[in-house]
Amino acid sequence: MKILTIGGSGREHAAVEALHRSGAEIYAVMRNANPGIMARAKAYKLIDDTDIDGVCEFAIEHGLKYAFVGPESPLEAGVVDALDNIGVKCAAPTKAAARIETSKTFMRELMKKYDIAGSVGFAAFDNVADAEDYLNKLTREVVIKPVGLTGGKGVKVQGEHLNSLSESVAYVRDIFKDNIGGGQVIFEEKLVGEEFTQMVFADGKRIVPMPLVQDHKRAYEGDVGPNTGGMGSYSDADHLLPFVTSADRECALCILQKIVDAMSAEGCPYVGPMYGQFMLTADGPKVVEINARFGDPEAMNVLSILETDFADIIRDMIAGKLRDDIRFKSLATVCKYVVPTGYGTSPDSGHEICIDEAKIRASGAEIYYANVDVVDGNILTGTSRSIAVVGIAAYLEDAELNCEEGLRFVTGTHICVRHDIGKAALIQRRIDNIRHLRP
Ligand code: AMP
Ligand code: GLY
Repeated sequence: MKILTIGGSGREHAAVEALHRSGAEIYAVMRNANPGIMARAKAYKLIDDTDIDGVCEFAIEHGLKYAFVGPESPLEAGVVDALDNIGVKCAAPTKAAARIETSKTFMRELMKKYDIAGSVGFAAFDNVADAEDYLNKLTREVVIKPVGLTGGKGVKVQGEHLNSLSESVAYVRDIFKDNIGGGQVIFEEKLVGEEFTQMVFADGKRIVPMPLVQDHKRAYEGDVGPNTGGMGSYSDADHLLPFVTSADRECALCILQKIVDAMSAEGCPYVGPMYGQFMLTADGPKVVEINARFGDPEAMNVLSILETDFADIIRDMIAGKLRDDIRFKSLATVCKYVVPTGYGTSPDSGHEICIDEAKIRASGAEIYYANVDVVDGNILTGTSRSIAVVGIAAYLEDAELNCEEGLRFVTGTHICVRHDIGKAALIQRRIDNIRHLRP
């Protein structure tokens, strides 16, 4: 299979490795010169992944018929629709179907219209006066989100990121003034609990689950600091999480199936990986957000242990014939991102980073390149996450140690890592929190 891959981050490098294991021939477009993807690609083109004409020209030039799309911005720009027009089939949602992520209002209204359990109270506004009026009358804490895409950095939680009414008003004004995430706002009921990620493959009708993963959105150790795209993540050998029961997981899967059904009923069937971010609350799993793609870093946890041929899964999603026997190894994984210092607020980028790939792989860990660039043979950090190391073992504790061992072979200055991810102390805090919420 010859396949076009779009995107140059860790998630796309993991997808490229999985496709390479399937014997696929990779043709990549990406903004940054990702050395991991370049090493596997038969040909690549460095362009903005929202440059639809550039992507289509590359697909025609190489006679490509299949595509995998990693990030959300090309989905929003309509890359799937444009590729379909020139006969390239994508295992990814159309612009209309990607609204499940690109418009938080679309997602909440869909769940409301189809009476899907697990949503939250919300109110959306397209003008600052009504939004401020609503905010001034609130008696409970809420979460404030721009309606559109913000790269995971636009959500602010009252009581955590916003500590007074005036701070909340100022943020709402900024959303409108600076056109953050499309310049509209949605207020959501604030959920309390523990978050987990359930990703599934979808073929327009059916869903097939991937292992559960827990991401860590906050920039600093101890789960404090600004929200980021995700600093690292872990998954367990039984494909559950230490604080999530199989009944909770079934509930999350039932919600995702109903969303896929609702999207077909709306005339925009959903094809591709779908990402459900859930909060496990005292009342069970509730939807925090739905993304129209693999999560990053979560893709690196699950694709590292995918046993089924990934190229087959892509073909089956496109054909609307997903098989329900997609298999993942019974292994635990811990992924930690090396990021530039200041990532989440003001990243200090452009510094050289050295990676001893052979030693990392010899330790049993995987390494995925993300937002780095190759300049004159040196690997330089960009403003987003740089390199991910994934430790893999039969037990979580050993996967975490394996990840740390791999990280020893990533060196440089102006970089940092959340070392607490996947460690017993942090996981125990999650377990204790859920025990407290659901005695
Ligand atoms: P999102 O980009 O929508 O996933 O939001 C980023 C982070 O903000 C989530 O991972 C949560 O930690 C937090 N968050 C988002 N929505 C809510 C909510 N309704 N209640 C509590 N926390 C939330
Ligand atoms: N890990 C969060 C995301 O991919 O949106």
